[in-house]
Amino acid sequence: MKFEHKMRGNVSFGVNPIGCKQEVNNQIDFVKEQGAYEGPKKVLIIGASSSYGLATRISLAFGANADTIGVSFEKGPKSEKNLGTAGWYNNIYFKQAAEAEGLIAKNFVQDAFSHETKQDVIKYIKEEFGGKVDLVVYSLASSVRTDPDTGERFNSVIKSIDQTVVGPNVNIQKQEFFEHVLEPATEEEIADTVKVMGGEDWQLWMEALKEAGVLEEDVLTVNYSYLGSDLNRPYYGDGTLGQAKADCEVKADNINELLTDINGKATIVVATAVTTKASSVIPFFPVYCMGLYRIMADNGTHETPIMHQDRIYRDMLYGNNAEYDDKGRLRPDSWELDPEVQKEAETLIHTINEDNFTSDKTGYSIFMKEYLNLAGFDVDGYNEAEGEETTLDDLLAL
Ligand code: NAI
Repeated sequence: MKFEHKMRGNVSFGVNPIGCKQEVNNQIDFVKEQGAYEGPKKVLIIGASSSYGLATRISLAFGANADTIGVSFEKGPKSEKNLGTAGWYNNIYFKQAAEAEGLIAKNFVQDAFSHETKQDVIKYIKEEFGGKVDLVVYSLASSVRTDPDTGERFNSVIKSIDQTVVGPNVNIQKQEFFEHVLEPATEEEIADTVKVMGGEDWQLWMEALKEAGVLEEDVLTVNYSYLGSDLNRPYYGDGTLGQAKADCEVKADNINELLTDINGKATIVVATAVTTKASSVIPFFPVYCMGLYRIMADNGTHETPIMHQDRIYRDMLYGNNAEYDDKGRLRPDSWELDPEVQKEAETLIHTINEDNFTSDKTGYSIFMKEYLNLAGFDVDGYNEAEGEETTLDDLLAL
C-alpha cells in the first residue's frame, strides 16, 4: 500500500503504520542500548500512545521491565483513505514487542476523562494486573474534555492572556513562514483551558485509584509540565496553557495530601520542548524549536521524547541525578533553560526569516524529521518492501 502524509496546517492526518512500527522499535532499541535500570514494576500511563506518554512506557517496559497499562484515545483503520491515527498503531506494536518479552501490556482505547474508563482500568488492575500499581503517569494532551458529571463539553485554546502577541510562525503544510497575530483569550476560554488541560482529571484519577485500594505503598504519580523561558512566556507560561499547568501544581498538592497515609508522592516533571502532535500546533512554538534545536543539537544536548523520558526515569526519578527546584518540581528542562543556550537560541531566532528558515542554519530539518516520524514517515530503518506489501486487511486484522 502507498501511505500518504496528509496535513491541514500543522495538524498531520496521514499515517504510515509500518513506519510507526519501526519508530516504536527504534525507541525500544534506544532504551535497550542504555541497559537495564531498577524502576517501578506496575505502571499506569494515561495518554500512553504517542510522544511523551509512549516514550515513558517504552523506557519503563524495556529499561525497568515494567508491566504497563496504557490509556489513550485513538482511531483504528476503516478504509484505505482512512487508516486511523498513529497512536493506534503505536499501541499495538508496543504491545506486541512487550508481550514478546513476557511483559504485560494492556491498552484501553477510550476517553480517559470519563468515570467509566477509570472504573474499567481499576477493575482490570484488581482482576488481572496483580491488584496494585506503583507508578501513575499523567501524560494527556487534549483540546476537548467532556465533564464526567455534567456531560458539558469544554474546549482548550492556546492563547495569550491580556496581550496580543505578534511573532514568526510556520505553516508546515504550506512550508510558509508568516507573522502570526495571537489575540488574547477571554475569561471563559481561560477557564475552559484549565478545565481541559489543568489537573482536575489527574486528581480524579488518583482519587478513584486510591478509593479502590489499587495504589501501592510509596506510589509515585507524575504529571508533565512545561515552563519555558522569556522567549515563549508571552504565549505559553503567561498564556492559557500556563494557567492550566499552574492548576496542575495546585492539584499535585491535593494529591500529595490524599496519598499521605500510603506515603505516596505527586511530582510535577517540567519536561523539555519536543516535537509532538500537541506542541506543533502551539503558535510560534515551531520557530522557537527551530532555534533551540539548532543550538542544542550543536551542543550535543538535543533530545527526542525517548531520550528525554529515559533520562527522567533512569537517571532522575529512579536514579541519583534528580534536580528539583524550590517548589519541588523535577527539572530535566535545565538543559533547555541553560542561560547560554537560551541566549544563543534568542540570537538565532531573531535571524530566522522567510528566506532562510528551511536552511541548515536553523533546526528546521530536525524539527521536520521528528514531525514526520510522529506519523511513521521518514523513519530510520523503515522497511519499504514491508510497507508496500501491507494491505488494508493486514491492518484491519491487527
Ligand atoms: P501528545 O498529543 O503526543 O499525546 C497525548 C496523549 O493523550 C495521546 O496518547 C492521546 O491519545 C491521549 N489522549 C488525548 N485525549 C484523550 C482522551 N480523551 N482520553 C484518553 N487519552 C487521550 O502529547 P504530548 O506532547 O506528549 O503531551 C503530553 C504531556 O506532556 C502534556 O501534558 C504536555 O503539556 C506535556 N509537555 C509537552 C511538551 C512538548 O514540548 N510537547 C513539553 C513539556 C510538557
